[in-house]
Amino acid sequence: MLSFLEVENVSKIYCDVRALDGISFTAEKGEWIAIMGPSGSGKTTLLNLLGCLDQATSGVLRIGSTDTRTLSRSALARFRSETAGFVFQQFHLIPHLTALENVMLAQFFHSMSDEPEARRALDRVGLKGRADHLPSQLSGGEQQRVAIARALVNDPKMILADEPTGNLDSETSAAVIEIMLELNAESGTTLVLVTHDPEVAQLTKKTIRLRNGAMINDGA
Ligand SMILES: Nc1ncnc2c1ncn2[C@@H]1O[C@H](COP(=O)(O)OP(=O)(O)O)[C@@H](O)[C@H]1O
Ligand SMILES: [Mg+2]
Repeated sequence: MLSFLEVENVSKIYCDVRALDGISFTAEKGEWIAIMGPSGSGKTTLLNLLGCLDQATSGVLRIGSTDTRTLSRSALARFRSETAGFVFQQFHLIPHLTALENVMLAQFFHSMSDEPEARRALDRVGLKGRADHLPSQLSGGEQQRVAIARALVNDPKMILADEPTGNLDSETSAAVIEIMLELNAESGTTLVLVTHDPEVAQLTKKTIRLRNGAMINDGA
């Protein structure tokens, strides 16, 4: 049987830069995996391919048995919105919208806004009393939790997090990672987490280690 995520010999070439070189691994539904590697090793490129923000130059990427190569640009965008939620290092919240409105905007782009559901998503990340605050009125850790609520509100099959604690101090980072792992455990959503923290990577059974676009382990 196919795994939820099947990456087979995937490469990505930008002009003359081989950003990814023959990457292969699988992940099961509900599993969480870590991606590690130095700056420029291809971590974001890989996450962008998994999130269907970009397409591989060669190789096969199957998500939930859909071969992403077969999708047109518009079908890929639709597939992305149904499949993936994103969390970025820089949070990327809209500064003049409240926490609640930031989450509701993601619902609107996906299908339609649903305030009680958006409030529930904020509750799940421990922000019950902060729904009506602007990003500037929230700490970095709280802003990232809003971003996590935004990523999970549409019930994606996977969450892709690109160095989500890169802008946070170590204590706040630990709390944010804990929330992400808790949500992963309770929701069955596959989580792909780019991290520089070996202690975080140690918590998972599967770490993809990249160097110069290539995997330096077997992804097991
Ligand atoms: N859009 C792009 N055009 C050209 N080169 C790119 C582009 N995106 C990334 N690269 C190059 O691909 C390599 C991998 O980048 P990236 O995936 O961002 O690494 P990481 O996230 O591990 O720091 C780097 O050499 C980077 O300069
Ligand atoms: Mg990166």
